Amino acid sequence: MGLSEAVPQRKPPSTHDAADDLRRLLSLDDMESVARTRLSEMAHAYFVGGAGDERTLGQNRSAWAEIDIWHRVLVDVSKRSTACTLFGRPSSMPILAAPTALHKLAHIEGECATARGCEAAGVPMVISSLASTAIEEIAAAARCPLLMQVYLGQDRALGRDLIARAEAAGFVGLQLTVDTPVWGLRHREITSGFHIPAGMDVVNLRGQDGGKSAQGVGIAQVLGWTISPSVTWKDLEWACGLTKLPVYAKGICRADDARRAVDAGARGIVVSNHGGRQLDGTPATVRALPGVVRAVDGRVPVLVDGGIRRGVDVLRAIAIGATAVQVGRPVLWGLACGGSAGVARCFEILREELDRAMALAGCADVASIQADLLQQG
Ligand SMILES: Cc1cc2nc3c(=O)[nH]c(=O)nc-3n(C[C@H](O)[C@H](O)[C@H](O)COP(=O)(O)O)c2cc1C
Repeated sequence: MGLSEAVPQRKPPSTHDAADDLRRLLSLDDMESVARTRLSEMAHAYFVGGAGDERTLGQNRSAWAEIDIWHRVLVDVSKRSTACTLFGRPSSMPILAAPTALHKLAHIEGECATARGCEAAGVPMVISSLASTAIEEIAAAARCPLLMQVYLGQDRALGRDLIARAEAAGFVGLQLTVDTPVWGLRHREITSGFHIPAGMDVVNLRGQDGGKSAQGVGIAQVLGWTISPSVTWKDLEWACGLTKLPVYAKGICRADDARRAVDAGARGIVVSNHGGRQLDGTPATVRALPGVVRAVDGRVPVLVDGGIRRGVDVLRAIAIGATAVQVGRPVLWGLACGGSAGVARCFEILREELDRAMALAGCADVASIQADLLQQG
C-alpha cells in the first residue's frame, strides 16, 4: 500500500484559492470539518479517537466551557499583546503545538510543514518521539523553538539517543511522557485497521521494528515496543540528570505526582491525559489543573493540554495558573487542510480569539490574566 492512501486525496486547489479557503475557516471546528474530508478514514480515526467510551475525551472539551469568566469593565485595552516568553524565547502567545505522532498521515510534508506553520505563527512546537520525519530535518525546516517529546521504551538507550540528538539540534526543552506504561484501548484504531502505511515510519526510532506494517491491529501492536510498563520515577530522575535541557513531565493529573515530579528534577509539568487517549475516566484536564498549580506553588511552570479549542479556553487556563497551553488535534486538522499554511491558520484563529477574549475580559496583556477573573469580585 502506498503513501498516497494516507495523504489528502484531492487535487490541491491553486495557491490563491487555498489561502481564501483557509481564511474562510473561522473556528477550529470549521477546520476539523474540512480536515475530515481530506484525510483517509484510517488517519481520521487515529487522530480523532480516544480510549474506551471516550468519556475523558468528551469532558476534556466540555469542562472548559463550564468555567465562567467574570470580565472586568472599563479597563483601557486599546494597546494589547498576547505575547509572552516561553523557554526563554519570545512567543506570540502562550500556546504550543502538542506532540502528536505521524504527521505524514495528515500531509505529505509532515512535521516539516507543521514546524513552518509554527514559525509563521510565532509559537514553539513539541515533536513527538513517533514523528514521521527525522528531528534534524524538522530543525532545518523552520526556526520556531523546538522541544522533543520522549517515550522511554524497553531499550532506554533509544531515549538517551533521542535526548542527545535534541540537544545537538538546538532544542529548547524536553517533555517526558509519563502517562503511557501501556497504550490506552482505542477502539477506533482497531476498527479502522490502523497500520503505518508503506513509505512511512517512526524514523527517529529506526533500528527497532519501526518500519513494520501491521494490518488491522491498533497502535498497541504496531508501536508497543516504543513504550515500557517498567518506567518509574527513577527513569524520570535519570532523564533529568542526563541533560541540561529542562525536562517537563507530561501526563500528570494528580497534585502528589506533580510534587514528586518536581522533586525528581522535572523543570515543568504538563497537565495532560494524552487527549483522552489513555485512561478513560481520568478527569478533564481543566479539573486537574488547579490542584497541580497549587502543589507546584510556582516552583516550575505548569502547562496544560486537552480539549482547548477556543481563545477563551486559553484565557481560562492562564487565569487558573497555567503558564501556557498546548493544542494537539487542531494542529493536525490545520495540517490536513493546508500544510504549513493550515497550521499557521489554526494558530491565527486561536490568537485572534485570545486577543478578543482578553480585550473583553479587561486584560491588556498575558500577565494581567489572573485568578480573580474566575470569581465574583
Ligand atoms: C493523533 C495523536 C497522537 C498523539 N501522539 C502523542 C505522542 O506521540 N506523544 C505524546 O506525549 N502525546 C501524544 N498525543 C497527545 C497530545 O500530545 C496531547 O496531549 C493531546 O492531543 C491534547 O489534547 P487535544 O488533542 O484535545 O488538544 C497525541 C494525541 C493525538 C490526538
